[in-house]
Amino acid sequence: SRIPTTWGDEVRELARQANAVILAHNYQVPEIQDIAHHTGDSLALSRIAAASDADVIVFCGVHFMAETAKILAPERTVLIPDANAGCSLADSITADQLRDWKSEHPDAVVVSYVNTTAAVKALTDICCTSSNAVEVVESIPADREVLFLPDQFLGAHVRRVTGRKNLHIWMGECHVHAGINGDELAARAAANPDAELFVHPECGCATSALYLAGEGLVPAERVKILSTGGMLDAARRTTGGTVLVATEIGMLHQLRQASPSVDFQPVNAQASCRYMKMITPEKLLRCLRERRDEVLVDPETAAAARTAVQRMIEIGQ
Ligand code: 13P
Ligand code: SF4
Repeated sequence: SRIPTTWGDEVRELARQANAVILAHNYQVPEIQDIAHHTGDSLALSRIAAASDADVIVFCGVHFMAETAKILAPERTVLIPDANAGCSLADSITADQLRDWKSEHPDAVVVSYVNTTAAVKALTDICCTSSNAVEVVESIPADREVLFLPDQFLGAHVRRVTGRKNLHIWMGECHVHAGINGDELAARAAANPDAELFVHPECGCATSALYLAGEGLVPAERVKILSTGGMLDAARRTTGGTVLVATEIGMLHQLRQASPSVDFQPVNAQASCRYMKMITPEKLLRCLRERRDEVLVDPETAAAARTAVQRMIEIGQ
């Protein structure tokens, strides 16, 4: 058999021996993005996990993403290089809080962002990601109340696009995206008057981006509210010029590879997710060598969450 000579060779060789597929989120460090079999946004990676015939899914991302893979592929072994890689957004609502909220709105349809724990997904009707949140909400009859959780900024974006009045929004947030604020965006846009703006809807500045467009401070066609996967699609259609990027800075690696002639600049260069960065090259190697950390979801919870997650991967294909 082949003798591995570098970290990358050993990672790929161990993956081959275990019939493992390595998935990496767009916010992972560049080395991990480059060694993964697939790099993408949370929706794309969920779809790949669901369709995969690998025996082992190694999820380089945060814990809820690996849990989602386990919910979709319960018969597979799901590993994450560090089970402590959490998510401040997923932590912003507990199953008990959701139970209480539902009891105040017993007829409402519950739409949960994929950034939630398996226990919250088990109390959910449909999950969504930032790529299909609008389509998911539009799939619900207009007269039904909707509980949208946990992200207030994504919720505000969905409300704006759908014009839906009966959408109740949980006031959670991701500490990284909430920290990318409107003043920073306005200053960066003023300093780069010809730049395009790619803004993730979880950002605190998503409303400001639309405000800038509404006031004519930035031409509306240059302001794009996009998921990380949507940013990559848009990057592939762009040549030359500057794009200001409002999201976690790991995204810049994929964008620069997708369109090398564009100058991609972070709106906030400090917007780094400490949870995403817990997945290091060393821990990925350890994960494959020692088969840890394994991600398990209690089968009853997984069964209750599965329909909601399956609807998510079917909507917006
Ligand atoms: P997407 O990749 O779905 O845009 O998600 C962003 C995110 O913050 C995941 O943690
Ligand atoms: Fe969670 Fe925010 Fe990190 Fe994404 S960037 S994993 S939403 S804490």
